[in-house]
Amino acid sequence: FFKQKTAYEIPKRDWSSDVCSSDLVPLDRAAALDRFTRTRARTRALFDLVDDAAYYERPIALRNPIVFYEGHLPAFAVNTLIKKGLGGSGVDEHLETIFARGIDPDTEAAAVARGNPAWPPRRAVREYGDAADRLLAEAIQSADLEREDHPLLQDAQALWAILEHEEMHQETLVYMWHQLPHAMKRKPAHYLTAPPRLAQSRPAGGQVRIPGGTVTLGTSGAESNFAWDNERPSHRQRVAPFSIDVHGVTNAEFMVFVEAGGYRDAQWWRPDDFAWIRSDGVRQTPFWAQRDGEWLWRGMFEFVPLPESWPVYVTWAEANAYARWKGMRLPTEAEFHRAAFGTPDGHERHYPWGDAVGKRPPANFEFLRFDPDPVDAHPDGASAFGVQDLVGNGWEWTSTVFAPFAGFEPLPSYPEYSADFFDGDHFVLKGASPVTARALVRPGFRNWFRPRYPYVYAKFRCVC
Ligand code: AVJ
Ligand code: FE
Repeated sequence: FFKQKTAYEIPKRDWSSDVCSSDLVPLDRAAALDRFTRTRARTRALFDLVDDAAYYERPIALRNPIVFYEGHLPAFAVNTLIKKGLGGSGVDEHLETIFARGIDPDTEAAAVARGNPAWPPRRAVREYGDAADRLLAEAIQSADLEREDHPLLQDAQALWAILEHEEMHQETLVYMWHQLPHAMKRKPAHYLTAPPRLAQSRPAGGQVRIPGGTVTLGTSGAESNFAWDNERPSHRQRVAPFSIDVHGVTNAEFMVFVEAGGYRDAQWWRPDDFAWIRSDGVRQTPFWAQRDGEWLWRGMFEFVPLPESWPVYVTWAEANAYARWKGMRLPTEAEFHRAAFGTPDGHERHYPWGDAVGKRPPANFEFLRFDPDPVDAHPDGASAFGVQDLVGNGWEWTSTVFAPFAGFEPLPSYPEYSADFFDGDHFVLKGASPVTARALVRPGFRNWFRPRYPYVYAKFRCVC
């Protein structure tokens, strides 16, 4: 499928010239500007996938309407780099206030109670974005982006923060779009939800034994000039031997749990999770649908018969219940690192398959597709221990509660980024999804979501 024509109208990336913060000593302005320009172009292409009629809709009730995100990305960049970092003036004080932060309310009632500011017309949001882009491009070309005497500018931190912030939001956009009715989206001409050779396979399954060892959690300064605060300080941790599934749990495997009445049996669920199943009447993931007795996959652009060999996308609560039903459990964050990046000789790799991303990485990320591949589609992407598909094709749930590492310090350019979520009610996810940008794919990157948030491209596997 790599030979497939561009899946959608976005400039093709040349992986070899991709800028990664660690490449930049000192700052390569031309490369940074190129990354900024391409990131903005991808964002625009993603907004072009939805119908204008959806612009003030909330595809996910808990999140902001679509209009917010189109303003939030440039406004966050202006607030962070231009104003707080460089001490310059922005473009529009009002828009930079209403679009400053997408603090997501945790209940639908809170979302409604918070109400809407009077969201501007789309034309105004677009004009704001264009003006912000000109200001930002100019700054990237000529401003003093790297200064050791300013906390936001050390190692050009604010620059990397705005780029990674936008790349993360591109994934948020896509999983929001996923929940919109298909009629509100424009399917790109060449996109195939289930290309014939990716539609079905027969994953061999089974588990592999991983010997005990030491893993590195988080990201060090030597690895990357930029890391989010929750990745620091990087540190080592011992992991005891364990066994792990070679593949992620598939739709077919999860169906057995569903048909065995797993959603009706309290013993597999934590009390709060079972209360949610009951109160919301949850009987399946939003990525599945049933029509005339047939199970379907809710693809980004259409329904297709449920591909049995694709990973099941579920909440932490459902993943945990399935693992318990199987007599197993979810891996810890450290176990994920051991299975993904560890090797028998003790050194750690940057990717499961080796140290380089290569031109065509054997994994599903970087917007090659909007839907998953079969769990066994990338045997050459296996880790040193033979575990497949650990990075790409869907984030992987861990049993680790999202919490700061010892020595945590909030990031000067975005102090609330992680700290607001250290509440014991978010779990760490590792890896990448089909729509995770390549720049975010590093071993130490940590994602997090609430245990009953059902919209994320999140899969899982079991360990014992
Ligand atoms: C790291 C993906 C959980 O979407 O809530 C974007 C990223 N933070 N703007 C989120 C984020 C602020 C964050 N996640
Ligand atoms: Fe944001």
